[in-house]
Amino acid sequence: EYVELRALSRLAAPAVAALLALTTGCTGETVQGRPGASGLRDPYFPRAGNGGYQVDHYALDLDYDPADGQLHGTAVITARAEQALSSFNLDFSGLDVEGVTVQGEGARYNRTGTELTVRPAEDLEKGEVFRTRVDYSGKPKALADPDGAKEGWVTTKDGAVAVGEPVGSMTWFPGNHHPSDKAAYDITLTVPRGYEAVSNGELRSRTGDADGRTVFAWHSPEPMASYLATAAVGPYKVTTGRTASGIGLYSAVAPGEEAATTGPLARLPEMVDWSAGRFGPYPFATAGAIVVPAGTLTYALETQGRPVYSGAPEDEELVVHELAHQWFGDSVSPKSWKDIWLNEGFATYAEWLWAEDHGGPTAQQHFEAFLAGDTDVDKDAGVDWDAFPPASPPGPEEITAAPVYYRGAMVLHRIRQEVGDEKFFALVRGWAADHRHGNASTAEFTAYAEKRTGQDLKKVWDVWLYGKARPK
Ligand code: ARG
Ligand code: ZN
Repeated sequence: EYVELRALSRLAAPAVAALLALTTGCTGETVQGRPGASGLRDPYFPRAGNGGYQVDHYALDLDYDPADGQLHGTAVITARAEQALSSFNLDFSGLDVEGVTVQGEGARYNRTGTELTVRPAEDLEKGEVFRTRVDYSGKPKALADPDGAKEGWVTTKDGAVAVGEPVGSMTWFPGNHHPSDKAAYDITLTVPRGYEAVSNGELRSRTGDADGRTVFAWHSPEPMASYLATAAVGPYKVTTGRTASGIGLYSAVAPGEEAATTGPLARLPEMVDWSAGRFGPYPFATAGAIVVPAGTLTYALETQGRPVYSGAPEDEELVVHELAHQWFGDSVSPKSWKDIWLNEGFATYAEWLWAEDHGGPTAQQHFEAFLAGDTDVDKDAGVDWDAFPPASPPGPEEITAAPVYYRGAMVLHRIRQEVGDEKFFALVRGWAADHRHGNASTAEFTAYAEKRTGQDLKKVWDVWLYGKARPK
């Protein structure tokens, strides 16, 4: 009997081991992974972002020569697998991929449209932290937004600037390009002597390399959505300073845009401290601005810590708007592009608050001006602000259309009317604090607003946030 049992167990051993490997993946042998999803099913940009992993850190090492427009890049992406992976995708548009490694080993890859699929030599385990290195080069090409605007890597007469809302960042680095996956960044830019190179975060070092070029190392420790990453190369004039409360400032202004230093942007230090008083502590270590040559873009963008302006801004409201995005959009980022009214509604409402606190119309007067189409109070009050509910733009070409901004701001004002100033400003600060450096959705906001104020706001949501008809 004993002999027979032993023989049996010897026979069964390999089968048991194989079963163990399948169920636990703990044999030290290769795990059985499956492909990560090629998109995150965003309601407006279903292919944006990728499933199966989350990025912790991007190290981007970029060489750019404005003379020939050539970019040489190395992206080292540190991510955590959320499932066992046999392959995973990165979003990447244009440029040539020269090689990909995962955990230091050569990986196979292929490209279809804007999807770069990477197949590591060995499958990745669930929970594994892994490093992907992509070497690439070429002339980056800007994309046309669904609404026709330009985004991505945009060249100027003597340089370039990168802006990524919503999906333009894939034109200059491979990544998980959806706002729900935020990560820390180190962006190193090497440019010919005489050029400045500006990005997000803090300038760690500015050195010369053996070829006489200048190397700028920028560090962003706080999580950043990839659409907010920027890189600006050009013969900029750089100014630094500090706000009265001690927030560091670093700004770059293109030649010919000197008006930026005396115009509305000159009040930036004061605006930073005013905003902190209204919304809570400034979310980043430094503030500032990048003023690119007028005509480069048709909009400004709240690139993290240092918004990009196309030409010297002419209105204080615009500067206040991009600054307010640092709390609403950059620190508290949308979970999906459907939640963008949380960015634009708050940033627009900040303009009304700034006016209210600085001798302009009150927020109530702004609200009434939009209701009445009174362009004397606000020149934008004549726009089609009620064309659709702010929480559901009809399509991707409408995610930055007027209702998202103005009706978004009106939702916030309606809450203020219902709950009063004390509860309203506690709600605004609490929202920014509770989701600081995170992501949030519209449903989370409405639930939070009711919980925080202890009031039923269903009517406000039904009529102002989701209602199709023009609110009365
Ligand atoms: N988020 C930017 C702002 O309001 C606007 C981006 C506009 N983008 C576009 N494709 N139209 O500050
Ligand atoms: Zn905005």
